Amino acid sequence: MALYFGTKALSKFDTLLQRGNYSKLFILCDENTHEDCLPSFLQHFPNLPPLEILEIEAGEESKSLSVLEQLWHSLSELEADRHSLILNLGGGVISDLGGFMAATYMRGIAFVNFPTSLLAMVDASVGAKTGINFGPFKNRIGAFADAQLIGIVPEFLETLSDQELLSGWAEMLKHGFIASPQHFQEIQDLDRTRPLPTLAHIKASVAIKEKIVKNDPRELGERKILNFGHTFGHALESYSHLQEAPLSHGHCVALGMIVALDISVKEAGFASAEAKKLQHFLGEAYSWPSFDLDRDAIFKLVSGDKKNRSNSINMVLLKSMGEAVYNCEVEFESIWESYKNLVNEAD
Ligand code: GLY
Repeated sequence: MALYFGTKALSKFDTLLQRGNYSKLFILCDENTHEDCLPSFLQHFPNLPPLEILEIEAGEESKSLSVLEQLWHSLSELEADRHSLILNLGGGVISDLGGFMAATYMRGIAFVNFPTSLLAMVDASVGAKTGINFGPFKNRIGAFADAQLIGIVPEFLETLSDQELLSGWAEMLKHGFIASPQHFQEIQDLDRTRPLPTLAHIKASVAIKEKIVKNDPRELGERKILNFGHTFGHALESYSHLQEAPLSHGHCVALGMIVALDISVKEAGFASAEAKKLQHFLGEAYSWPSFDLDRDAIFKLVSGDKKNRSNSINMVLLKSMGEAVYNCEVEFESIWESYKNLVNEAD
């Protein structure tokens, strides 16, 4: 994986531009990254190829077929060809959507990711997953496609709100849960109202993901553990959008991890007292939504999860801190019961 940090990332991108002889550079951004990140970013590159900016509206709603179609039209009208390069400058929506746009236009053109959100730095932009949401389901349509380069520039974190940092923090905690109690401890100690990690924290978190992805790039086995907290989390995230009260991805994953810890106690032998402490910690930083969940709607969303096989719901559970197991068949009733109990306890 061509993954670089800080000034090295910028100089590697410059080298790529000089050597690549690209016909055009297309920068995909949203209104926030256009204003807050693009001007400072461009200053590093005095010799750019002809440049076009593709701006989409910030937010998960843009990760859709209709926005993708508009982008394909724009690429065609602006004469993107196979020698063009796409630069995805933004959070997870931009790297997922932009990566898929690049992977599908003319059967695939080159792209690079410069993630600007913490979530995209430690998760979305790393590991070649690209795609869009479809119907009520997250990331239902997509492809694995490798970026030419992933550049992580921590200065972008200063542009983020507390909520955005909290969203990325959940994925960093997840890396600790599934692979490293020590990483969990370090990340847990960040300020829980504005968790701003150091570059060393980000490198450690990304290294956990990179190692897992290297062993199983196409998620046939071990990579599934990166979905810890996502079975319930993705369903909750989709549901919150249907309710027009959107919760961030990381917030939903954090609540999904609270549920998954409960099921890990019931079904994977995770120590109950430790789970309670961890659930309490997560619950202090990430609150349950104010709206009630509809059982049937959540059932449909959980049943539609990509990790499932035939009729069984397959979850990632923990045996202990740092020891995750995947393909654990769980009854929906068990998930729903955990959710109900946890929400009642939190009230
Ligand atoms: N976000 C989970 C993965 O990349 O596999």
